Amino acid sequence: MYDAPVPSLSEAELRELDAQYCSWGDTVHYVDQPKFFETCDGSYMYDAQGRAYLDLQMWYSTVNFGYRNPRLNAAAHRQLDRLPQAASQHLHREKVELAALIARDAEAKFGAKGRVHFNVGGAQAIEDSLKLVRNAAGGKSRMLAFQGGYHGRTLGASAITSSYRYRRRYGHFGDRAHFVEFPYVFRGPRGMTKEEYGEKCVADFARLFESEFHGAYDLKAQESEFAAFYVEPVQGTGGYVIPPLNFFRDLKKVLDRFGVMLVVDEVQMGVYRTGKLWAIEHFGVQPDVLVFGKSITNGLNPLSGIWAKEALINPQVFPPGSTHSTFNANPMGTAVALETLRMAAEGDYLTSVPEKGAYFLEGLKDLQTRWPQLGDVDGLGLALRAELCQADGFTPDKALMDRMVAEGLKGDLQAGGEPMGLILNVGGYYKNVITLAPCLDISRAEIDLALELLEQLLHRCVES
Ligand SMILES: Cc1ncc(COP(=O)(O)O)c(C=O)c1O
Repeated sequence: MYDAPVPSLSEAELRELDAQYCSWGDTVHYVDQPKFFETCDGSYMYDAQGRAYLDLQMWYSTVNFGYRNPRLNAAAHRQLDRLPQAASQHLHREKVELAALIARDAEAKFGAKGRVHFNVGGAQAIEDSLKLVRNAAGGKSRMLAFQGGYHGRTLGASAITSSYRYRRRYGHFGDRAHFVEFPYVFRGPRGMTKEEYGEKCVADFARLFESEFHGAYDLKAQESEFAAFYVEPVQGTGGYVIPPLNFFRDLKKVLDRFGVMLVVDEVQMGVYRTGKLWAIEHFGVQPDVLVFGKSITNGLNPLSGIWAKEALINPQVFPPGSTHSTFNANPMGTAVALETLRMAAEGDYLTSVPEKGAYFLEGLKDLQTRWPQLGDVDGLGLALRAELCQADGFTPDKALMDRMVAEGLKGDLQAGGEPMGLILNVGGYYKNVITLAPCLDISRAEIDLALELLEQLLHRCVES
């Protein structure tokens, strides 16, 4: 077990320093007093007293393969001892091998030769993709994106992220996207199947191109005002909303017809979260550009990047220097990402993730029979949602969500006679959705424990 170090400053003293010297603008505060953690392992984080907290969000799906994964940590140590630093103008084998691995896999799956381009952080990779599609579309700067979509908080990424809250106070930098309705079935029109609602959303979207008066298409020139449509295969921050399986195929037909590129943002759902390397593989469409980040290094390094079709990214159209960041393709990140993808390919995630996801979802459905406050539960692989509502099972209950997050972090739930905490993430259009992204190596016993702890929280928070 972990031996807690003798802290030089008390927690109260650290909080005092945090209040004085840390900007609070660089992250979210879901609880009044964010928690300090000392260490982590597998599916758990530990506080200074060595108390365990079962993590059901894994750094927003950034540590898919468990905290301190021994094989990935060893790859980081090896790289640290050999070539930890190299300016991005040089080449190193890990960068090239990683790019080739991703591009060959994409070529086999999407039937198109492409190239890979690295950066650090999801939003920065989104920025790079914006340059790429603007360039390929002859400088067009208008984009399409979904209501409920999230692509990061840099200025460019905020412009294609639906929440006005992220743009308010900063003015506009470039064009804000046109936001299209996403088939969020639980809150969609009554009396429609999931598929019918998806078809309705596509049909409504297609109407934009029907007449020039809808403000999207010049019928005479046969040219769209929009360069690309940014999509998340499963909405992440929007509350793990899973569209019908025919949705993106139908949408892509409209995009192809009117010359709009498809950019798939896999930053949160990629790297086996849904049971496939890329979540878009469930939906049978070929992206023009795919953006990745987070779990590609299991959270050991903020490496991110894009894969794009050759026509968009070859050095003639996107020459050296089109983007640049000091840390992009850094040796530590690319080495760990290479090992992550190799390790995952050797594992059985294609079968284990859907199996574990189905088991977890069954447990959530069982909870739902006792708790009408779980208005909706759903999942694709180990991307699961539990939407918290009032007793009518529909009215969003953000206050219940906030109570559950705060109570889980107190660390005094009961697990086999021992105190334990539960780490939950908040998502959704109404900030009332538990977005569950457990470790992909979670055991069935840990899933049972997760369900038991969730029920303890419901007892405590619904009845309080
Ligand atoms: C789908 C999606 N795109 C982009 C981002 C931005 O990534 P980052 O926070 O690394 O900038 C996120 C982050 O949560 C995300 O979920």
